[in-house]
Amino acid sequence: MTLQVVTDSSHEKTILEGCIREKAWPDAELRILEAGCGNKWQLSLKGLQYSLSGIDLDEDALRLRQARFQDLDEVIVGDLRTISLPKAQYDVIYTAYVLEHVSNVPLVLANFNRWLKPGGLMIIKVPDRDSVYGFIARSTPHWLHVYYYRFIKGNKNAGKPGYLPYPTVYDTALGRNRMLTYCEQQGLSVKGVFGKNNYLRKRSARDRVIKVFVRLVNLFSFGKLAWHYNDLIYIIEKPASDTDEAQ
Ligand SMILES: C[S@@+](CC[C@H](N)C(=O)[O-])C[C@H]1O[C@@H](n2cnc3c(N)ncnc32)[C@H](O)[C@@H]1O
Repeated sequence: MTLQVVTDSSHEKTILEGCIREKAWPDAELRILEAGCGNKWQLSLKGLQYSLSGIDLDEDALRLRQARFQDLDEVIVGDLRTISLPKAQYDVIYTAYVLEHVSNVPLVLANFNRWLKPGGLMIIKVPDRDSVYGFIARSTPHWLHVYYYRFIKGNKNAGKPGYLPYPTVYDTALGRNRMLTYCEQQGLSVKGVFGKNNYLRKRSARDRVIKVFVRLVNLFSFGKLAWHYNDLIYIIEKPASDTDEAQ
């Protein structure tokens, strides 16, 4: 499957929000689960009739989210791998920057598949472990990530309860080929895979330095580590007739 690279966040949001809106029912509420919802929601679904459930391990993040935005209709504290939620509950499951923090990713994917209604949509956004960004993230210690967020990105709350960054795992199951094979084996239809780049369009001196650096690492990896995007976004649909009773 060819990868379309998106360099603009508002273009990315238009694509994702459009995919969700396509699932809307006339006269019925769209049920959305934000998995690993953390302390903020990135999308805007104005005008759409929907309910938003948020699940997260981190009670502090959920508390911050509700104090600031009060945008969750249902708050669930739990682990995506082990929590038991009813089958076929949601029209859409959206998860962003979560699976890189989880070991045993197939357990989470199996749960998503179980919680989705037939014909439902899964949107999974995750840093590509096989990009320069992903490689560096999984090869460096957590304390360095905290310093990077605090002193380079200027987030003074970085590392405090409820705030980024969270320790990373980068399960090998997150490799792009393994994700696609998993979907094929489970009868899930991959509608699209996007590569998101967070630094190509920016023109600041810092972003130019980053660009040169990632190209160099790409060269030293003999082209194995992708440099022209850092995140992968999978748009996955569950078949309309749910035939897999084992789920
Ligand atoms: C990097 S934050 C992303 C938050 C939010 N999705 C966003 O895009 O801003 C990762 C979130 O995943 C949550 N998380 C990590 N492992 C989890 C698990 N096994 N079950 C539920 N949530 C988990 C963390 O608590 C954290 O809130």
